[in-house]
Amino acid sequence: MAPRAETTAEVERRAPAAGPAAVEPMAPPLGTGAGERSSAAAAARGGAAPEGVGAGGGLEVPVARDDAATVVLLESLLEHLADGVLAVGRDGRVSYWSDTLGALTGLSAARALDRPVGELLPDFAAAFSGDAAQVAAGRLSAGRGELPLRLAVVRVQGPSGITLGRAAAVTDLRREQEARAAREQQAALTQLGQMMATAAHQLRNPLGACLGFLGLLERDLAGGPSAALLGRVREGLGEMDRRIGELLGYARPRPLEARRFDLAALLRDVAAGAAARFGGGPRFETRLPPRFELRGDADQLRQACENLLVNAAQAAGATGRVRLLLRAARTGGGRTSARILVRNTGARLAPGELPQLFEPFVSRTRGGTGLGLPLARRIVEAHGGRIEALSAGGWTTFVAVLPLDSAPGPEESP
Ligand SMILES: Nc1ncnc2c1ncn2[C@@H]1O[C@H](COP(=O)(O)OP(=O)(O)O)[C@@H](O)[C@H]1O
Ligand SMILES: [Mg+2]
Repeated sequence: MAPRAETTAEVERRAPAAGPAAVEPMAPPLGTGAGERSSAAAAARGGAAPEGVGAGGGLEVPVARDDAATVVLLESLLEHLADGVLAVGRDGRVSYWSDTLGALTGLSAARALDRPVGELLPDFAAAFSGDAAQVAAGRLSAGRGELPLRLAVVRVQGPSGITLGRAAAVTDLRREQEARAAREQQAALTQLGQMMATAAHQLRNPLGACLGFLGLLERDLAGGPSAALLGRVREGLGEMDRRIGELLGYARPRPLEARRFDLAALLRDVAAGAAARFGGGPRFETRLPPRFELRGDADQLRQACENLLVNAAQAAGATGRVRLLLRAARTGGGRTSARILVRNTGARLAPGELPQLFEPFVSRTRGGTGLGLPLARRIVEAHGGRIEALSAGGWTTFVAVLPLDSAPGPEESP
């Protein structure tokens, strides 16, 4: 997407040299005084403690007490472990609450320290009792609403096996839940895609037969009163054929079959086809060089350009205008690219809407599959190109930039 919407004139006038497309520490031993939180935690404790236990039974770690560097290192380790870390003293009160946990829950260490863990994390209270390590899932009602969490709780022992307290690594389950939902959606889409492909394939044969018989009828009834009706039938069948092509093309990507061809001639042909299909519809204008050689998969690029042009014609409506332009443009590294612009008048699209249109199944056109743009983009990107859109100055423009030769072809393939 261009950083700024360009005007029609800017987009069209841009010199080829103008560049690419426009549209273009473990908890410090409590009481070490290493940091405020430690001090706070230290303050939270009190009373005599057995050997190895910080005063009051907080989490103790085997660190030389005056080794400040080790303390800092361990603290920083804790801050990056899991999504958060907490420690609970023998008295069941929170003695360590990592900054990450504070950020995750919205509950700061200052507010969490010294509170009974069962009060702070009622869903997990049981996990902080017993000798065995425990993993528990539950929710935390914090300032940020209900937070799904998993806690891995271990008992921390002193040298004599005495329980010093418990430490827990906290995992934010939202990401896991989101990832699972995305995987499930992907699997459903894949299945849907396979069903679609099968259905489309099965429709194509009878449709081909209908088009064949229609050709015979057109020949027999040429010039007669029914000829116009047959024209309508051909239009409808042609539209079905195109939609089925979109479904099949999207569900079953084909490898590129690259060869050298004249892109200008191909675009002239595509424009003529669209003008015929939308006869009486928008005004079609082309600005194409006499010849423009490119190496790529002509059939697939034809489909991509047809999709763009059909969309433009649909958006322009009967009284609108559609323009198809082709020119050379210099892209990064001094390489020359082909720049295809498909433009139409009609309702302006908000910048935020444009990227969505490239998502599969997004369609605002009656009977649309929402696959025309995703497919066009995939084809262009398979050629090492890119496709972008902008809507400004009364025109909506889709720009496809294609390197002159990037597609692997028969010569290069193993
Ligand atoms: N040139 C355009 N101007 C305005 N809207 C467009 C244009 N091209 C595409 N769109 C919008 O993007 C949607 C998705 O297009 P596409 O992927 O081709 O699917 P379909 O045409 O089947 O709906 C269209 O339904 C339309 O709303
Ligand atoms: Mg379309």
